[in-house]
Amino acid sequence: MTPEKLILLAQEARTMSYCPYSGFAVGAALLCADGKVYTGCNIENAAFGPTICAERTAVFKAVSEGQREFAAIAVVGGMAGQEISRECPPCGVCRQVLREFCADDFPVYLSRDGKTVRTILLKELLPESFRAEQHLSR
Ligand code: THU
Repeated sequence: MTPEKLILLAQEARTMSYCPYSGFAVGAALLCADGKVYTGCNIENAAFGPTICAERTAVFKAVSEGQREFAAIAVVGGMAGQEISRECPPCGVCRQVLREFCADDFPVYLSRDGKTVRTILLKELLPESFRAEQHLSR
């Protein structure tokens, strides 16, 4: 699975976005250690708060099916009904959720055009993170 292919899968997932309030459609594709890919889109809610991001949809789908080891994630976003035109880095909540299951050097693939890929590591997105090990030191 190449980064470019994972970006394509994220774009496919983006077409399923339910975003009537923001009009901003996001797609994610999460590559598991066993090679399986779980995709997700953002799903908004009239009450706003219950909205879930594309990345967490993908992570929760995967974990709920027994996956805990992940190799990479691709994320794309932009105005619904339009091609993407800039990178869509994960929000702070999604960064923390990724950190629960993914190592510091976990690669996050971003794209501004759906074709080219820039890789950023989770530790760059969330430095000095609070993580599971904190609980082990009690
Ligand atoms: N969104 C995501 O799906 N992922 C992110 O990392 C950033 C934001 C969604 C949430 C909301 O439905 C819309 O984008 C606008 O914030």
